Amino acid sequence: MKDRVIVLGSVNTDLVVKVRRLPRPGETVIGGTFYQNQGGKGANQAVAAARSGEKPVTLIAAVGNDVFGRESLAALQRDRIDLTHVKVKHSISSGVALIMVDEGGENAIAVASGANTALSPADVNEVPDSVFESAAVLLACFEIPVETVRAGMRRARQFGVTTILNPAPVPEELPADLFSDVDIMTPNEHEIARLLHLPQIEDEAGVRDAATRLLDRGVRNVVLTLGARGCFFAGAEGTGFLPAFPVKAVDTTGAGDAFNGALAAALSEGRAWGDSLRWASAAAAISVTRAGAQPSMPFRREIEDFLKIHG
Ligand code: RIB
Ligand code: NA
Repeated sequence: MKDRVIVLGSVNTDLVVKVRRLPRPGETVIGGTFYQNQGGKGANQAVAAARSGEKPVTLIAAVGNDVFGRESLAALQRDRIDLTHVKVKHSISSGVALIMVDEGGENAIAVASGANTALSPADVNEVPDSVFESAAVLLACFEIPVETVRAGMRRARQFGVTTILNPAPVPEELPADLFSDVDIMTPNEHEIARLLHLPQIEDEAGVRDAATRLLDRGVRNVVLTLGARGCFFAGAEGTGFLPAFPVKAVDTTGAGDAFNGALAAALSEGRAWGDSLRWASAAAAISVTRAGAQPSMPFRREIEDFLKIHG
Protein backbone atom coordinates (compact mmCIF):
# COMPACT_ATOMS: atom_id res chain seq x y z
CA MET A 1 0.00 0.00 0.00
CA LYS A 2 1.22 3.47 -0.86
CA ASP A 3 -0.72 5.50 1.69
CA ARG A 4 1.69 6.52 4.44
CA VAL A 5 2.26 10.16 5.39
CA ILE A 6 5.87 11.10 6.15
CA VAL A 7 6.36 14.31 8.10
CA LEU A 8 9.90 15.70 8.03
CA GLY A 9 10.22 18.51 10.55
CA SER A 10 10.70 19.87 14.03
CA VAL A 11 9.73 18.99 17.58
CA ASN A 12 9.47 21.74 20.22
CA THR A 13 8.11 22.28 23.66
CA ASP A 14 5.94 25.38 23.68
CA LEU A 15 6.11 27.61 26.75
CA VAL A 16 3.08 29.83 26.34
CA VAL A 17 1.95 32.95 28.17
CA LYS A 18 -1.56 34.11 27.36
CA VAL A 19 -1.75 37.89 27.86
CA ARG A 20 -4.29 40.63 27.22
CA ARG A 21 -2.05 42.18 24.59
CA LEU A 22 1.43 41.52 23.23
CA PRO A 23 4.16 43.66 24.89
CA ARG A 24 6.18 46.15 22.85
CA PRO A 25 10.01 45.91 23.00
CA GLY A 26 11.16 46.84 26.52
CA GLU A 27 7.67 46.60 27.94
CA THR A 28 6.28 44.19 30.55
CA VAL A 29 2.69 43.03 30.37
CA ILE A 30 1.53 41.44 33.61
CA GLY A 31 -1.45 39.24 34.48
CA GLY A 32 -0.87 36.39 32.04
CA THR A 33 -1.54 32.66 32.31
CA PHE A 34 1.14 30.03 31.63
CA TYR A 35 0.79 26.79 29.69
CA GLN A 36 3.36 24.19 28.67
CA ASN A 37 2.33 22.44 25.46
CA GLN A 38 3.77 20.07 22.92
CA GLY A 39 4.66 21.95 19.73
CA GLY A 40 7.05 22.29 16.83
CA LYS A 41 5.71 22.55 13.30
CA GLY A 42 6.75 19.01 12.32
CA ALA A 43 5.27 17.38 15.41
CA ASN A 44 2.09 19.47 15.14
CA GLN A 45 1.69 18.53 11.49
CA ALA A 46 2.24 14.85 12.27
CA VAL A 47 -0.41 15.00 15.00
CA ALA A 48 -2.82 16.81 12.68
CA ALA A 49 -2.27 14.14 10.02
CA ALA A 50 -2.64 11.24 12.48
CA ARG A 51 -5.78 12.59 14.16
CA SER A 52 -7.54 13.66 10.98
CA GLY A 53 -6.49 10.74 8.82
CA GLU A 54 -6.68 7.00 8.92
CA LYS A 55 -3.32 6.17 7.35
CA PRO A 56 0.00 5.57 9.15
CA VAL A 57 2.12 8.64 9.92
CA THR A 58 5.91 8.50 10.20
CA LEU A 59 7.82 11.42 11.71
CA ILE A 60 11.44 12.11 10.77
CA ALA A 61 12.78 14.54 13.37
CA ALA A 62 15.31 15.07 16.18
CA VAL A 63 15.06 15.76 19.91
CA GLY A 64 17.68 16.18 22.63
CA ASN A 65 18.41 13.65 25.36
CA ASP A 66 16.35 15.55 27.95
CA VAL A 67 13.00 15.70 29.72
CA PHE A 68 11.40 17.94 27.08
CA GLY A 69 12.40 15.54 24.32
CA ARG A 70 11.16 12.48 26.20
CA GLU A 71 7.82 14.13 26.99
CA SER A 72 7.40 15.16 23.36
CA LEU A 73 7.98 11.62 22.16
CA ALA A 74 5.60 10.18 24.74
CA ALA A 75 2.88 12.55 23.53
CA LEU A 76 3.50 11.70 19.86
CA GLN A 77 3.31 8.02 20.74
CA ARG A 78 -0.12 8.55 22.28
CA ASP A 79 -1.19 9.85 18.87
CA ARG A 80 0.12 6.59 17.36
CA ILE A 81 2.82 8.28 15.27
CA ASP A 82 5.67 6.06 14.07
CA LEU A 83 8.79 7.42 15.80
CA THR A 84 11.28 4.83 14.53
CA HIS A 85 13.13 7.55 12.61
CA VAL A 86 13.22 10.23 15.29
CA LYS A 87 16.83 10.77 16.33
CA VAL A 88 17.89 11.50 19.90
CA LYS A 89 20.82 13.92 19.65
CA HIS A 90 23.25 14.09 22.56
CA SER A 91 24.76 17.30 23.98
CA ILE A 92 22.14 19.54 22.39
CA SER A 93 18.81 20.40 24.01
CA SER A 94 15.37 19.77 22.56
CA GLY A 95 13.69 22.61 20.69
CA VAL A 96 11.84 25.21 22.74
CA ALA A 97 9.40 27.90 21.60
CA LEU A 98 8.53 30.91 23.77
CA ILE A 99 5.08 31.99 22.72
CA MET A 100 2.87 34.91 23.70
CA VAL A 101 -0.79 34.87 22.71
CA ASP A 102 -3.11 37.88 23.05
CA GLU A 103 -6.86 38.13 23.61
CA GLY A 104 -7.62 38.06 19.90
CA GLY A 105 -5.64 34.84 19.41
CA GLU A 106 -2.71 36.63 17.72
CA ASN A 107 0.78 35.44 18.69
CA ALA A 108 4.51 36.25 18.78
CA ILE A 109 7.00 33.34 18.88
CA ALA A 110 10.73 33.00 19.58
CA VAL A 111 12.25 29.58 18.89
CA ALA A 112 15.47 28.00 20.21
CA SER A 113 15.76 25.21 17.66
CA GLY A 114 18.32 23.07 19.51
CA ALA A 115 18.29 19.44 18.33
CA ASN A 116 16.16 20.37 15.30
CA THR A 117 19.24 22.03 13.77
CA ALA A 118 21.14 18.74 14.09
CA LEU A 119 18.69 16.77 11.90
CA SER A 120 20.94 16.08 8.91
CA PRO A 121 20.55 14.94 5.30
CA ALA A 122 22.29 11.73 6.43
CA ASP A 123 19.48 11.15 8.95
CA VAL A 124 16.99 11.35 6.09
CA ASN A 125 19.03 9.18 3.75
CA GLU A 126 19.34 6.52 6.47
CA VAL A 127 15.58 5.97 6.54
CA PRO A 128 14.98 2.68 4.72
CA ASP A 129 13.57 2.69 1.19
CA SER A 130 10.54 0.74 2.41
CA VAL A 131 9.28 3.83 4.29
CA PHE A 132 9.31 5.93 1.12
CA GLU A 133 7.96 3.06 -0.97
CA SER A 134 4.92 2.83 1.27
CA ALA A 135 4.36 6.62 1.37
CA ALA A 136 1.80 8.66 -0.55
CA VAL A 137 2.77 12.10 0.78
CA LEU A 138 5.80 13.74 2.36
CA LEU A 139 5.23 17.00 4.26
CA ALA A 140 8.18 19.18 5.31
CA CYS A 141 8.71 22.56 6.99
CA PHE A 142 11.73 24.83 7.55
CA GLU A 143 12.26 24.52 11.30
CA ILE A 144 15.04 22.08 10.33
CA PRO A 145 18.07 22.71 8.06
CA VAL A 146 17.31 23.51 4.42
CA GLU A 147 19.67 20.77 3.15
CA THR A 148 17.74 18.25 5.21
CA VAL A 149 14.46 19.37 3.66
CA ARG A 150 16.04 19.15 0.27
CA ALA A 151 17.28 15.59 0.93
CA GLY A 152 13.76 14.59 1.98
CA MET A 153 12.13 16.17 -1.08
CA ARG A 154 14.65 14.47 -3.36
CA ARG A 155 14.08 11.07 -1.88
CA ALA A 156 10.33 11.45 -1.90
CA ARG A 157 10.49 12.39 -5.56
CA GLN A 158 12.53 9.29 -6.41
CA PHE A 159 9.79 7.13 -4.92
CA GLY A 160 6.87 8.93 -6.56
CA VAL A 161 5.71 10.45 -3.26
CA THR A 162 3.68 13.69 -3.45
CA THR A 163 5.67 16.46 -1.76
CA ILE A 164 4.20 19.29 0.30
CA LEU A 165 6.51 22.04 1.48
CA ASN A 166 5.27 24.40 4.16
CA PRO A 167 7.94 27.11 3.82
CA ALA A 168 7.79 28.20 7.44
CA PRO A 169 9.80 29.97 8.64
CA VAL A 170 11.41 31.17 5.38
CA PRO A 171 15.19 30.57 5.50
CA GLU A 172 17.73 33.26 4.57
CA GLU A 173 18.78 31.35 1.48
CA LEU A 174 17.07 28.73 -0.58
CA PRO A 175 18.63 26.51 -3.23
CA ALA A 176 16.88 27.33 -6.53
CA ASP A 177 16.54 23.67 -7.45
CA LEU A 178 14.41 22.94 -4.41
CA PHE A 179 11.31 24.43 -6.02
CA SER A 180 11.04 21.87 -8.81
CA ASP A 181 10.84 19.06 -6.24
CA VAL A 182 7.72 20.60 -4.69
CA ASP A 183 4.26 19.40 -5.71
CA ILE A 184 2.42 21.70 -3.32
CA MET A 185 3.88 24.73 -1.55
CA THR A 186 1.81 26.23 1.26
CA PRO A 187 3.11 29.68 2.29
CA ASN A 188 1.12 32.34 4.08
CA GLU A 189 1.17 35.96 2.84
CA HIS A 190 4.32 36.93 4.73
CA GLU A 191 6.16 33.80 3.70
CA ILE A 192 5.40 34.11 0.00
CA ALA A 193 6.55 37.74 0.05
CA ARG A 194 9.82 36.75 1.73
CA LEU A 195 10.33 33.77 -0.59
CA LEU A 196 10.01 35.96 -3.66
CA HIS A 197 11.59 39.13 -2.19
CA LEU A 198 8.35 41.01 -2.83
CA PRO A 199 6.79 43.81 -0.76
CA GLN A 200 3.86 42.77 1.46
CA ILE A 201 0.83 41.63 -0.50
CA GLU A 202 -1.94 44.24 -0.52
CA ASP A 203 -4.87 42.88 -2.51
CA GLU A 204 -6.25 40.08 -4.65
CA ALA A 205 -4.11 41.08 -7.64
CA GLY A 206 -1.05 40.80 -5.38
CA VAL A 207 -2.13 37.34 -4.26
CA ARG A 208 -2.54 36.11 -7.84
CA ASP A 209 0.71 37.68 -8.96
CA ALA A 210 2.73 36.15 -6.09
CA ALA A 211 1.27 32.69 -6.71
CA THR A 212 2.09 32.93 -10.42
CA ARG A 213 5.67 33.88 -9.62
CA LEU A 214 6.04 30.87 -7.34
CA LEU A 215 4.66 28.59 -10.06
CA ASP A 216 7.21 30.10 -12.48
CA ARG A 217 9.94 28.87 -10.12
CA GLY A 218 8.90 25.28 -10.80
CA VAL A 219 6.47 24.57 -7.94
CA ARG A 220 3.54 22.49 -9.26
CA ASN A 221 0.82 23.94 -7.02
CA VAL A 222 0.64 26.85 -4.63
CA VAL A 223 -1.79 27.03 -1.74
CA LEU A 224 -1.51 30.49 -0.26
CA THR A 225 -3.09 30.53 3.19
CA LEU A 226 -4.71 33.86 4.05
CA GLY A 227 -5.82 33.34 7.66
CA ALA A 228 -9.42 34.35 8.28
CA ARG A 229 -9.83 35.07 4.55
CA GLY A 230 -9.24 31.45 3.56
CA CYS A 231 -6.80 30.32 0.89
CA PHE A 232 -5.93 30.88 -2.75
CA PHE A 233 -4.77 27.91 -4.77
CA ALA A 234 -3.16 27.88 -8.20
CA GLY A 235 -1.32 25.41 -10.39
CA ALA A 236 -1.69 22.03 -12.04
CA GLU A 237 -4.73 21.04 -9.90
CA GLY A 238 -6.64 24.23 -10.68
CA THR A 239 -6.98 27.82 -9.53
CA GLY A 240 -9.42 29.50 -7.17
CA PHE A 241 -10.28 30.97 -3.78
CA LEU A 242 -11.60 28.91 -0.90
CA PRO A 243 -13.13 31.11 1.84
CA ALA A 244 -12.33 30.21 5.45
CA PHE A 245 -15.03 28.83 7.76
CA PRO A 246 -16.10 31.66 10.08
CA VAL A 247 -15.05 30.85 13.66
CA LYS A 248 -14.13 32.79 16.78
CA ALA A 249 -10.33 32.75 17.16
CA VAL A 250 -8.98 31.85 20.59
CA ASP A 251 -5.42 30.93 19.57
CA THR A 252 -4.17 30.86 15.99
CA THR A 253 -0.84 29.19 16.91
CA GLY A 254 -0.49 26.04 14.83
CA ALA A 255 -3.42 26.78 12.49
CA GLY A 256 -1.06 26.43 9.54
CA ASP A 257 0.14 23.11 10.93
CA ALA A 258 -3.44 21.87 11.26
CA PHE A 259 -4.04 22.85 7.63
CA ASN A 260 -0.89 21.19 6.31
CA GLY A 261 -1.20 17.98 8.34
CA ALA A 262 -4.85 17.51 7.44
CA LEU A 263 -4.12 18.27 3.77
CA ALA A 264 -1.39 15.61 3.74
CA ALA A 265 -3.72 13.09 5.38
CA ALA A 266 -6.58 13.82 2.96
CA LEU A 267 -4.35 13.46 -0.09
CA SER A 268 -2.88 10.20 1.27
CA GLU A 269 -6.41 8.81 1.34
CA GLY A 270 -6.85 9.68 -2.32
CA ARG A 271 -9.38 12.47 -1.73
CA ALA A 272 -9.88 14.90 -4.61
CA TRP A 273 -8.07 18.23 -4.56
CA GLY A 274 -11.06 20.43 -3.68
CA ASP A 275 -12.23 18.04 -0.96
CA SER A 276 -8.74 17.88 0.48
CA LEU A 277 -8.51 21.68 0.68
CA ARG A 278 -11.92 21.87 2.38
CA TRP A 279 -10.86 19.17 4.83
CA ALA A 280 -7.63 21.05 5.62
CA SER A 281 -9.48 24.33 5.97
CA ALA A 282 -11.99 22.79 8.41
CA ALA A 283 -9.14 21.33 10.48
CA ALA A 284 -7.48 24.76 10.67
CA ALA A 285 -10.77 26.45 11.60
CA ILE A 286 -11.39 24.05 14.48
CA SER A 287 -7.80 24.43 15.71
CA VAL A 288 -8.05 28.23 16.08
CA THR A 289 -11.08 27.89 18.37
CA ARG A 290 -8.93 26.12 20.96
CA ALA A 291 -5.87 27.01 23.03
CA GLY A 292 -2.41 25.73 22.13
CA ALA A 293 -0.93 24.37 18.93
CA GLN A 294 -0.63 20.61 19.21
CA PRO A 295 -3.41 20.15 21.79
CA SER A 296 -5.83 21.92 19.43
CA MET A 297 -5.39 19.54 16.47
CA PRO A 298 -8.82 18.09 15.68
CA PHE A 299 -9.76 14.42 15.35
CA ARG A 300 -11.33 12.95 12.20
CA ARG A 301 -14.80 12.74 13.74
CA GLU A 302 -14.69 16.42 14.76
CA ILE A 303 -13.83 17.50 11.23
CA GLU A 304 -16.61 15.34 9.78
CA ASP A 305 -19.14 16.83 12.21
CA PHE A 306 -17.89 20.36 11.53
CA LEU A 307 -18.28 19.88 7.78
CA LYS A 308 -21.82 18.54 8.26
CA ILE A 309 -22.79 21.73 10.09
CA HIS A 310 -20.88 24.19 7.91
CA GLY A 311 -21.66 22.43 4.61
O1 RIB B 1 3.45 26.50 14.05
C1 RIB B 1 3.37 26.59 15.43
C2 RIB B 1 4.63 26.10 16.09
O2 RIB B 1 5.69 26.95 15.72
C3 RIB B 1 4.60 26.10 17.58
O3 RIB B 1 4.11 24.89 18.12
C4 RIB B 1 6.01 26.42 17.99
O4 RIB B 1 6.71 25.30 18.45
C5 RIB B 1 6.64 27.04 16.76
O5 RIB B 1 7.75 26.37 16.35
NA1 NA C 1 -5.08 26.59 18.45
